[in-house]
Amino acid sequence: MTASKTANKKLLVLPGDGIGTEVMAETLRVADWMAKRRAVRFDIQEDLVGGAAYDKHGTPLADKTMDAAMKADAVLLGAVGGPKWDGLSFDKKPERGLLRLRKEMDLFANLRPAVVFDALVDASTLKPEIIKGLDILIVRELTAGMYFGQPRGVENLPGGGRKGVNTHTYTDAEVRRVAAVAFELARKRSNKVCSVEKANVMEAGLMWREEVTKLHAAEYKDVGLSHMYADNCAMQLIRNPKQFDVIVTDNLFGDILSDEAAMMTGSLGMLPSASLGARDAADRRLALYEPVHGSAPDIAGQGKANPVAMLLSFAMCLRYSFDMGDEADLVEGAAKKVLDRGLRTGDIMQPGKTLVSTKAMGDALLAELEKTA
Ligand code: IPM
Ligand code: MG
Repeated sequence: MTASKTANKKLLVLPGDGIGTEVMAETLRVADWMAKRRAVRFDIQEDLVGGAAYDKHGTPLADKTMDAAMKADAVLLGAVGGPKWDGLSFDKKPERGLLRLRKEMDLFANLRPAVVFDALVDASTLKPEIIKGLDILIVRELTAGMYFGQPRGVENLPGGGRKGVNTHTYTDAEVRRVAAVAFELARKRSNKVCSVEKANVMEAGLMWREEVTKLHAAEYKDVGLSHMYADNCAMQLIRNPKQFDVIVTDNLFGDILSDEAAMMTGSLGMLPSASLGARDAADRRLALYEPVHGSAPDIAGQGKANPVAMLLSFAMCLRYSFDMGDEADLVEGAAKKVLDRGLRTGDIMQPGKTLVSTKAMGDALLAELEKTA
């Protein structure tokens, strides 16, 4: 059941590492505002993930945190990682904490909308006419493929030398369930899906294409479907991104293509994401919301981070987990107004605009929200 507006919404907050804690702080101020002004109650529990969890517990995600995530109505995550933990073995790395959450919560559908705000058209490295009005949605499969396939590891070869192995695997069911999410979402947008793989060189890629085609023919004939090789998609995103509406792709290609799409919006600091599981018999769906950007160790702790991607991720949480579309519109609208007023963090700074800190960006957003109250 989607939590009703009056019920307490259980939110697990995992700020993580680096700028994760800074951008999360601004988001929590907005959650507070919602509680005061919109009569919604969040039951917020805060915990550690990534390097911060490793420093305290010797693991990037403690079991009790995993349990809390399974019980929460939604998880908000900042960012994980940093040079301090680079030397750790793979099972201890901060990124493992995030990957464990995705895997054990079975968050197979990762929604990464790349929307270019008018105020930021000139902040992109691409020509304005290429990206003005851009609004695409990348649906990245998040629990299979290269990130999780077995076998994996590095082995010593008998004659000396080493072999590194990672495996790309998908079952037909894994392909179909993420493709279904893409088709459903396309129906609420411009009704076009482009499915992306490497069917020309990978058997698993060809199977991906076949499964998407079959599902389309069986259930989604009304939606426009095209297929594209991943290398071509990377090129087309730069050449003419507006040809796309919804892109559905595997875990690794989705990781790469979504960074590319993010940069069109002017900065990685602008792109939110939602990671969703399947609905269970009681209509409950596990979900995690996080910005696409990382922990940005180079600017961490200096108040320079752009909190917008985290705030927009919170807006996605309101929309997808709490059925609070009006409140999500308020947050998105406030972010747009703040940008229209010329306020910029360093990542999107341009001549003639006002350079502000993470907190000042949060202040301005709250002031815009307050005008709507
Ligand atoms: C992302 C990130 C993660 C990924 C890292 C932090 C493990 O790059 O969410 O895109 O590779 O999935
Ligand atoms: Mg990535």
